[in-house]
Amino acid sequence: MTKFDAIIVGGGAAGLMCAREAATRGRRVLLIEHNKGLGAKILISGGGRCNFTNEDAGPNAYISHNPHFAKSALSRYTQWDFISLIASHGVTWHEKTLGQLFCDQGAGRILKVLTDECQENGAKILTGTKVDKVSFGAGGYRLETSAGVFEAESLVIATGGLSIPKMGATGFAYDIARQFGMKIETTEAALVPFTFSDADLAFMKLLAGVAADAVVSCGRTSFAEALLFTHRGLSGPAILQISSYWHPGETVTVNLLPKVQDSFDWLRKARDDRPKAALKTLLGDHLPSRLAEAIASEWPGPLGSLSNKQLQAISDRCSRWQLVPSGTEGFKKAEVTRGGISTDGLSSKTMESKKQPGLYFIGECVDVTGWLGGYNFQWAWSSGWAAAQYI
Ligand code: FDA
Repeated sequence: MTKFDAIIVGGGAAGLMCAREAATRGRRVLLIEHNKGLGAKILISGGGRCNFTNEDAGPNAYISHNPHFAKSALSRYTQWDFISLIASHGVTWHEKTLGQLFCDQGAGRILKVLTDECQENGAKILTGTKVDKVSFGAGGYRLETSAGVFEAESLVIATGGLSIPKMGATGFAYDIARQFGMKIETTEAALVPFTFSDADLAFMKLLAGVAADAVVSCGRTSFAEALLFTHRGLSGPAILQISSYWHPGETVTVNLLPKVQDSFDWLRKARDDRPKAALKTLLGDHLPSRLAEAIASEWPGPLGSLSNKQLQAISDRCSRWQLVPSGTEGFKKAEVTRGGISTDGLSSKTMESKKQPGLYFIGECVDVTGWLGGYNFQWAWSSGWAAAQYI
């Protein structure tokens, strides 16, 4: 049996940040990962270039039952702190769009910064190691694992959410929370494509592969980004973003003409100015030709032949397209998990359980879900750093 100051379970973004920071502070740290390798999601993120943070990262970009919870950690370990860390290792980056920062040298370099720092500061790392049992007693936390028994005063759970089980995602964090009587907010797939049934799907399948700029809304939330038609429904950044706000049965509204202020007015003027033009030609000024053609096929004939009622229907179809997804592609395709360990039971300063001394939860397993665009890694870095100050 070996004793440490802290044991961290989960060698992803949050666990690695926590391990390196605690080890830098001189703590004796053990990091346990059940996969053969560390940071699997870091490696595949951002198409292999890791969108490691966002210049605009701030609490408004996170969904949680307590919108204030993320403020403390995000303000104490910011995007600029993470940028300084990687810069000190000679890593360079570029902004792709909307403040999203990607690593020039590839995702592997971000992982290497974290693992090098763990190694240099003496954090012990065990990969391919299964935790069979966790118990709490006079000696602190006792973990029975496939590599032996370990004890520590602090136990940090950094095992992430349920997205992409194929990559090693498990419900371990929720099991531990339950074991220690903590509340869990319902977990759901987020940043995930929508599925549709019947007529909507038939239309989308026809357009599979077509992308268009759109404003997609659900309730009071909107995102202006690209939308992608697929064989199963809708995807693309705008759809992934809104999926985090959507609940089954709710309507999603799509504006395919975000640059046209009043599309009914625009259509009416076009009918007056170009009565002989085809609708698909007019729509083609703003939409990809396949999409313009598919929409226009419902209203054949030149613009001059269309009534005001028909123009209103076309305007609604293009600017206020109402859709009720039949569901999402689920955890198999989701980038993150919405919900998780309730923030009611955690200190926002330390990430420690209010009920169970020495037990910490960090990263995606907590009920804090970021937008697409580097926000989720920033939460992993910030929450991991915060816990590391106290373990
Ligand atoms: P993470 O999932 O990274 O790590 C958890 C670790 O715990 C894993 O290594 C897992 O194997 C391990 N584990 C699980 N159960 C265990 C158990 N029982 N015992 C031991 N170990 C266990 N975000 C972003 O900001 N920018 C981006 O570019 C992307 N891109 C992206 C692409 C894809 C395809 C996905 C699926 C996700 C993203 N994300 C993202 C989201 C981002 O990857 C995610 O939010 C963070 O990795 C969360 O970090 P955590 O450390 O909390 O969990």
